[in-house]
Amino acid sequence: MKEKLEALRTQALAELEAADTPKVLEEFRIRFMGKKGPLTELLRGMGALPAEERPRVGQMVNQLRAELETALATREEAIQSALKAARLKEETLDVTMPGKRAAAGGLHPLNSVLNNMIDIFQSMGFDVVDGPEVETDYYNFECLNVPKDHPARDMQDTFYIGENLLLRTQTSAAQIRTMEERKPPIRVICPGRVYRADEVDATHSPVFHQIEGLVVDKNITICDLKGVLEQFAHEMYGADTKVRFRPSFFPFTEPSVEVDVSCSACGGTGCRICKGVGWIEILGAGMVHPRVLKSCGIDPEEYSGFAFGIGLDRLTTTRHKISDIRLLFENDRRFLDQF
Ligand code: DAH
Repeated sequence: MKEKLEALRTQALAELEAADTPKVLEEFRIRFMGKKGPLTELLRGMGALPAEERPRVGQMVNQLRAELETALATREEAIQSALKAARLKEETLDVTMPGKRAAAGGLHPLNSVLNNMIDIFQSMGFDVVDGPEVETDYYNFECLNVPKDHPARDMQDTFYIGENLLLRTQTSAAQIRTMEERKPPIRVICPGRVYRADEVDATHSPVFHQIEGLVVDKNITICDLKGVLEQFAHEMYGADTKVRFRPSFFPFTEPSVEVDVSCSACGGTGCRICKGVGWIEILGAGMVHPRVLKSCGIDPEEYSGFAFGIGLDRLTTTRHKISDIRLLFENDRRFLDQF
């Protein structure tokens, strides 16, 4: 019996020694110390022993049980503390390591320049209005004094969606909608996307942006046009920027002008940004054609107005000295993060 207990002890201690996870340990406990384990079995079989041997054997079995229980507890503690040490090691934080910079979003350069422009015009009393990008031929051309056979239609290669439906080629369509909805005095700007069937290159994109402006009231003259646009140019580009008005042609204005500002990159001496001429064209404008006023139900004898269309993309590329318009549309983070 003694040898049997000794063998059991050796085996149990060896297994305990080898156990290295709580799961193996638990299996050990059930197998050796449980109700169906060898120790319980031995105690149960004691009835078969001569009565004088029973106390001694009982004592030995209980001693072994106590020894194994202690060994089990010790082993359990060792495993738990090894697990804890491993977890702590894994979770160690080196607080001296450099942190990861949190990626912060920012305004697209087109939006920040647009916000800037909106601020300038709002401070002069303009409202911001919106117009649809899918327009009818009537609003985009017809009502702006560009009838079906007018050569000016060739200036703007149009994406047609249906016979009378198109992607607007100019925000000027918003002028008409505004005059239909509001009575003078009118002072609005309408920023938005416009579309033309242009080949993509460094200065052309089939989608680009304009800000339309419209003022209609009594006694509006070309002096008002000059004053407002000069003020805009000075606020946008700086007070020493020179502004130049050149005669031009648009079917919906008479007279019409194009407006240049002295190049902000070279100050007017000529550089790569202004293609050597010292001036940058930023907008088209003019006095609203009486025929346009009339077709919107405004009496040209009583009211007059001026309108302008600013190219937002050009303004943004010149302001930030961006050499290729395509960069504005590619949304490359390496480019955008610079603004
Ligand atoms: N719509 C013109 C264009 O796309 C720009 C323009 C010129 C708008 C004169 C106007 C204007 O309102 O009066 O080129």
